Amino acid sequence: MDARYEKLLKCRDYVRGPTDFVPRVALTLGSGLGGFASEVDVACEAPYADIPGLPVSTVPGHAGKFIFGTLRGVPVVCMQGRVHYYEGYELSDVVLPTRLVRMLGAEILFLTNASGGVNPDFDAGDFMLITDHIMSFFPNPLIGPNIEELGTRFPDMSHVYDPDLCGAIRAVAAREGIKLREGVYCQLTGPCFETPAEVRMLGILGADAVGMSTAVEATAARHCGLRVCGISCVCNKGAGLSPTALTHEEVQEAADKAAPLFKRLVGESIAEICR
Ligand code: HPA
Repeated sequence: MDARYEKLLKCRDYVRGPTDFVPRVALTLGSGLGGFASEVDVACEAPYADIPGLPVSTVPGHAGKFIFGTLRGVPVVCMQGRVHYYEGYELSDVVLPTRLVRMLGAEILFLTNASGGVNPDFDAGDFMLITDHIMSFFPNPLIGPNIEELGTRFPDMSHVYDPDLCGAIRAVAAREGIKLREGVYCQLTGPCFETPAEVRMLGILGADAVGMSTAVEATAARHCGLRVCGISCVCNKGAGLSPTALTHEEVQEAADKAAPLFKRLVGESIAEICR
């Protein structure tokens, strides 16, 4: 059996020890949404460190665990803390939690992240509905023998971000009076921020925001049959678009400031999607 699939089965069997909870929506909590768990009526938690083989994040503010519970009546699993490729993990480990939640029964993956604005109209604190992504500068997480148990060798990527889910999120933002940008997210490896020339290049290529996560998870999610949607919290203007140097602290601060509104947008969107 494929070693990556065997590892997934072990993780699933471990999680199935303490809980038989079947989530409908899996929510990846990016920077600033770590406190989202307070919205969830928690049924069970599974720290990543306890699950054999599951990668554990080294980034401050990303301590990892699965939180199973209900959000406004919807069975969800929150993935609090994600691992990034720049931490040195194999891509198969970076997408392992995505595949695992599918094996636990999730049908929808709701991705959130922090990003830098490439589109010069975007400001720190803006939310961007992700309508498509560019992952061409990044190794594909599906490289290697295809895991047939999960999906097809050549998955379609015409509509990674499900148009119906995007429509529901747009409707919620309009109803709640929350300004929602939309656009194309580009994932680079990080961990350094981009150069101004790179940000200009990404703009020319059609990107509106840039970050270090999400597209690989969305790709693995489509491969294994999850419906996907995502919202990015633009935490800063991309390098060269503002006069100040970028720091992780600035990103974290902007994410924390946007958190209450982000929580509302995401919470209401999940309720709307599952109505
Ligand atoms: N670049 C890449 N990733 C990011 C940024 C950025 O400017 N801001 C937050 N995450």
